[in-house]
Amino acid sequence: MNPIKVGLLGLGTVGSGTFEVLTRNQEEIARRAGRGIEITAIAIRNLEKAKALVKGHAKITQDPHSIVSDPDIDVVIELIGGYDLARELVLKAIESGKHVVTANKALIAVHGTEIFAAAQNKGVMVAFEAAVAGGIPIIKSLREGLSANRIQWIAGIINGTTNYILSEMRSRALTFNQALKEAQDLGYAEADPTFDIEGIDAGHKATILSAIAFGIPVQFDKAHVEGISKLNTQDIAYAEQLGYRIKLLGITKRAKHGVELRVHPCLIPSKRLIANVEGAMNAVMVQGDAVGTALFYGKGAGSEPTASAVIADLVDVTRLLTADPLHRVPHLAFHPDSMSDIDVVPMSEILTSYYLRLRVSDRAGVLAEVTGVLAKHGISIDAVLQRPAGEVLNQTDLIIMTHECQEARMNQVLNTLTSIQSVHGEIVRIRKEELNG
Ligand code: HSE
Repeated sequence: MNPIKVGLLGLGTVGSGTFEVLTRNQEEIARRAGRGIEITAIAIRNLEKAKALVKGHAKITQDPHSIVSDPDIDVVIELIGGYDLARELVLKAIESGKHVVTANKALIAVHGTEIFAAAQNKGVMVAFEAAVAGGIPIIKSLREGLSANRIQWIAGIINGTTNYILSEMRSRALTFNQALKEAQDLGYAEADPTFDIEGIDAGHKATILSAIAFGIPVQFDKAHVEGISKLNTQDIAYAEQLGYRIKLLGITKRAKHGVELRVHPCLIPSKRLIANVEGAMNAVMVQGDAVGTALFYGKGAGSEPTASAVIADLVDVTRLLTADPLHRVPHLAFHPDSMSDIDVVPMSEILTSYYLRLRVSDRAGVLAEVTGVLAKHGISIDAVLQRPAGEVLNQTDLIIMTHECQEARMNQVLNTLTSIQSVHGEIVRIRKEELNG
């Protein structure tokens, strides 16, 4: 059988990894796929760089449009990233009857509904394993391996850059800026690291997980997204004294009136395996009614780990090429006419426990005043810690862990506490997740 012909858009970190691994392991990959897989055309801005890597084994062009409309290409791999050009090229490839493999989480989380509808219409596949948690096969696991389950929740460390920063802030007491600089020097963070540190990248990935877990459309616009740029080393140290680690989690959870979809820093009990995922590693915890708790761990970024996911998608597409489109695994795990319209619940309705840190005047009655506000709103306290406020005279840090309450109620409490005279500056609020399955 003739090999499958693949057009590659982008030859950056993931693109070159894909080319290398596909070339290195081509014989075994072909034995798995049932036929050869060949990258026959590559679109890239820097032609010289491409020539050095490809050594005449593929056509090189600066025009990605020529690849998505090339009748000789069966599958397009989109690795250019971003929203607009990627969307245009992917839709054009689909329109030309080509299958698409992409690592672009922003594209899928924001334009997924449009892209999947177009693919459905044309009977082609859009595969995106590499879009979430790099080399960890979490999409396939959820969509196929766990298809017996009613998923209850997913919580994941799905951004390596922020996990590296948090790990170094904890283990070496670095400030956020010092740890970010290191992440940049090591090549983990982008030159403009906003997507990483403000939780947007994790938000895209959580949005995709949520669609696959619950059979709802991808809807990034409904996700609550907070990053780690406001975290300080002191809170990480206080959390540790209380038996917790702080991690940036992407969470999606079945709730009473819908689905929660949120990304924010979280306290997690230090004894959980996921709390011990350090450096740039990723991990995703899934709670299903039949399987119980499952934990997936591995490299969430990088050239060959991400290429591993891209090529697995290529193999899948190759195996399923001749299958009737109606009998393929649906893009979002659920058949398009069986999708659910349950809502993403507003953040104000979520239920969680909280870590609060207040800088307060160190005098009689202040603790009673603060805890009185919590009591008035029916919020029960789990633990309290008082620590000297560094060199500031007559002030102290008050750390309060609460039991579970509704976010709206906590917002009211924070408004009231901020207006109390003996509370100084901003109150730090970090949500807590037990993740005990
Ligand atoms: N910037 C991402 C991360 C890369 O740090 O995890 C993979 O999406």
